[in-house]
Amino acid sequence: MASFLSLLFFAVVFSVSLFLLRRSRYRRLRLPPGSLGLPFIGETLQLISAYKTENPEPFIDKRMNRYGPIFTTHVFGEPTVFSADPETNRFILLNEGKLFDCSYPGSISNLLGKHSLLLMKGSLHKRMHSLTMSFANSTIIKDHLLVDIDRLIRLNLDSWTDRVLLMEEAKKITFELTMKQLMSADPGEWTESLRKEYVMVIEGFFTLPLTFFSATYRRAIRARTKVAEALTLVVRERRNDDRPRSDMLGALMASGDNFSDEVIVDFMIALLVAGYETTSTIMTLAVKFLTETPLALAQLKEEHDQIRANKGHSEAAVEWCDYKSMAFTQCVVNETLRVANIISGIFRRTMTDINIKGYTIPKGWKVFASFRAVHMNPEHFKDARTFNPWRWQNNSEAANPGILYSPFGGGPRLCPGYELARVVLSVFLHRLITRFSWEPAEEDKLVFFPTTRTQKRYPIIVNRRERGPTRS
Ligand code: HEM
Ligand SMILES: *[C@@H]1O[C@H](CO)[C@@H](O)[C@H](O)[C@H]1NC(C)=O
Ligand SMILES: *[C@@H]1O[C@H](CO)[C@@H](O)[C@H](O)[C@H]1NC(C)=O
Ligand SMILES: *[C@@H]1O[C@H](CO)[C@@H](O)[C@H](O)[C@H]1NC(C)=O
Ligand SMILES: *[C@@H]1O[C@H](CO)[C@@H](O)[C@H](O)[C@H]1NC(C)=O
Repeated sequence: MASFLSLLFFAVVFSVSLFLLRRSRYRRLRLPPGSLGLPFIGETLQLISAYKTENPEPFIDKRMNRYGPIFTTHVFGEPTVFSADPETNRFILLNEGKLFDCSYPGSISNLLGKHSLLLMKGSLHKRMHSLTMSFANSTIIKDHLLVDIDRLIRLNLDSWTDRVLLMEEAKKITFELTMKQLMSADPGEWTESLRKEYVMVIEGFFTLPLTFFSATYRRAIRARTKVAEALTLVVRERRNDDRPRSDMLGALMASGDNFSDEVIVDFMIALLVAGYETTSTIMTLAVKFLTETPLALAQLKEEHDQIRANKGHSEAAVEWCDYKSMAFTQCVVNETLRVANIISGIFRRTMTDINIKGYTIPKGWKVFASFRAVHMNPEHFKDARTFNPWRWQNNSEAANPGILYSPFGGGPRLCPGYELARVVLSVFLHRLITRFSWEPAEEDKLVFFPTTRTQKRYPIIVNRRERGPTRS
């Protein structure tokens, strides 16, 4: 016992002096101002407790007021520089692969798979990223994906009556769409059972930072194995099938890169993961923000009723020119992405000492570029914390896109799904608004800013709208 205690004592003395030594080295560099907090835990506890409140940026707000938009903290076991400065964020995004690279904890890598696009670096990343961009670019959406987006959304809305759990429905739609786009799988028993496993995988991403003690995480890893097995079977079948297919799996196999089954499966899982919570959350939050902003909802209704009226048939498919004519909808989409900030920012690691804005960030440090802190800053957006789609009408903020407004990131890791997500949300709003009126069910209110993962499902009561004289 005594020897255990003295061991403990030395360990503590040793690590505290190491901590102080490192701190004095950092003092010689001109680090961004801030506090490294306590040894080891740093300011992690403050970060976690801050996000339990409803203020969207409590942790960053407080430190920004004290130190300015670039500051040093210490979270999740590492010193980390936070940036709420638009130019610095841009610099970080554009220098991906040169001065910064992505960095995820090992627990996340295990869930994603080692060949995931999100973890790839260097020339392989470049190749895979451009392939992914070409699978979901506007030409492909227009010529192939739009029909299925519209059809699957309509199919799901057909069964809506009375009380609908909006978030659940949005997730179902998003999953079905991705399965269709990836491998032409139509919704059915197989996709539903895969989705059940897949939901457990997703749960695993939210167990940080207690991953290794977590039963949820272990279950997620098992579920990932099952999902990967099911997808591997699909890939194998496809290898023996010569019919050309116009889905992402077909394009991947036809690319001439000779990807292994494992690479292809990890690729598909990456797309499922990256598009799922993100797209379904903006679908839900757009409806929530509109419900709370009746003027915006009325204007949107007018836009979509007009489109339906011009088509003359209440069920006629949404075409690309319809999407392109949804001017106010695009304002609503932009504003939803700005206020909701599903991906609040991105973590990177410095590959070398970085000099920026008069500060030095040491090599090997973590940086966090916060998009939310910029989107929510009244210096950059007037009444920044209010949902106001009209602010996009004269395109004033869009005059400098990518600097102040970056819901999809930018640079070499720009989200390949940026157009797809916009189209899915627009078509969803079109079908929802032309078919239903709704009101939120009284209980279960979704918090305004989903700063932590919200378990809320946002139930609404829907009523079918009377069809107008255009019905044929
Ligand atoms: C509202 C919906 C979405 C938002 C807000 C969003 C946001 C983002 C952001 C900010 C990044 C950059 C991450 C980084 O720089 O480290 C990203 C990457 C990515 N997104 Fe999205 N995304 C959305 C929907 C989608 C969809 C529908 C797909 C499916 C095609 C998708 C696929 C990806 C992939 C594969 C990456 C990784 C790119 C890379 O690392 O090279 N996303 N997304
Ligand atoms: C989209 O990608 C396809 C290949 O998948 C390519 O032929 C087409 O030119 C691309 N369109 C745009 C607008 O980049
Ligand atoms: C494709 O990759 C497999 C292994 O992944 C290899 O055995 C095969 O020779 C490769 N084929 C070509 C044409 O490169
Ligand atoms: C929405 O934001 C994008 C930048 O992501 C911009 O290019 C586009 O013009 C904006 N749309 C409107 C209607 O302002
Ligand atoms: C947009 O511009 C028009 C005329 O140029 C003006 O009447 C309107 O108030 C402006 N809207 C916003 C939100 O600035």
